[in-house]
Amino acid sequence: MPEPAINVPVKASSRSAGSVRGTTPTGATDERSAARAVQQMFDEIAPRYDFLNHVLSMNVDRCWWRRTARTFRHVLARGNARVLDLCAGTGDMSVAMRKVSERLGGSASMYALDFSHQMLHNGLGKYRARKIQALEADALQLPLADSSMDLVVSSFGFRNLANYDSGLREIFRVLNTGGEAGILDFSEPGGMLGKLYGFYFRNVLPRIGTLISGVRGPYEYLPASVQKFPAPQQMLERMTMAGFKDVSWTPYTFGIAGLYRGKKQ
Ligand SMILES: C[S@@+](CC[C@H](N)C(=O)[O-])C[C@H]1O[C@@H](n2cnc3c(N)ncnc32)[C@H](O)[C@@H]1O
Repeated sequence: MPEPAINVPVKASSRSAGSVRGTTPTGATDERSAARAVQQMFDEIAPRYDFLNHVLSMNVDRCWWRRTARTFRHVLARGNARVLDLCAGTGDMSVAMRKVSERLGGSASMYALDFSHQMLHNGLGKYRARKIQALEADALQLPLADSSMDLVVSSFGFRNLANYDSGLREIFRVLNTGGEAGILDFSEPGGMLGKLYGFYFRNVLPRIGTLISGVRGPYEYLPASVQKFPAPQQMLERMTMAGFKDVSWTPYTFGIAGLYRGKKQ
């Protein structure tokens, strides 16, 4: 049964969206060092990233990318849509969107942006095969013109930004009027399931991740970054403050992950 979306009516002047500015990996002292630590982490795990993603999520990640892509099928079906996959990594979200676009006869121009050279490099095969243009750049300083995109989607990348409000403003800036944003990221489910999942996420996943990737740090950072990420209500308030309308959050798989949506009107 599809999980219902949460819509939050909030005033643009609201100040209750939490005080977290952005991600704070261990050792980072400011936004610049936080971004550098994130970039280095993903450069290090890039060769094993796809494999680990599928193992650690027990392949549920594929369903989440596909579901997100299908949500935006009305945009992807257009012949001339311009679509940005923000923090694209090795490209699975881009590929899911390209497949939906192709199936519906669309021919969207697709861009996959990330600041980790190694992540993009490991996705090059997918990008070339699906005619997706890879861009190596920072999500907080997009090398794109104002109002140049019809859809911006970010899967599991936004949480890693050093400044969430700046990230939202950049997404808003590059969207056309009528354009849409989708941010897919982890969340912390409540209840008994939340406790069980929390145990797996905080204790089991970091061990397996560290063992397989051979890199200490990134898979301890993952649960820590999810814990610090604003709760859905707070994210929706931040989106509203950035200018988005019709904001909503739809939980995926009992709220382990969820999709934030917003429009530029
Ligand atoms: C967990 S991966 C997600 C990759 C892909 N979207 C997916 O769903 O598998 C997060 C990605 O965000 C990228 N990233 C984090 N901060 C970024 C920033 N400021 N600018 C560009 N990319 C960033 C990282 O380099 C990494 O590739």
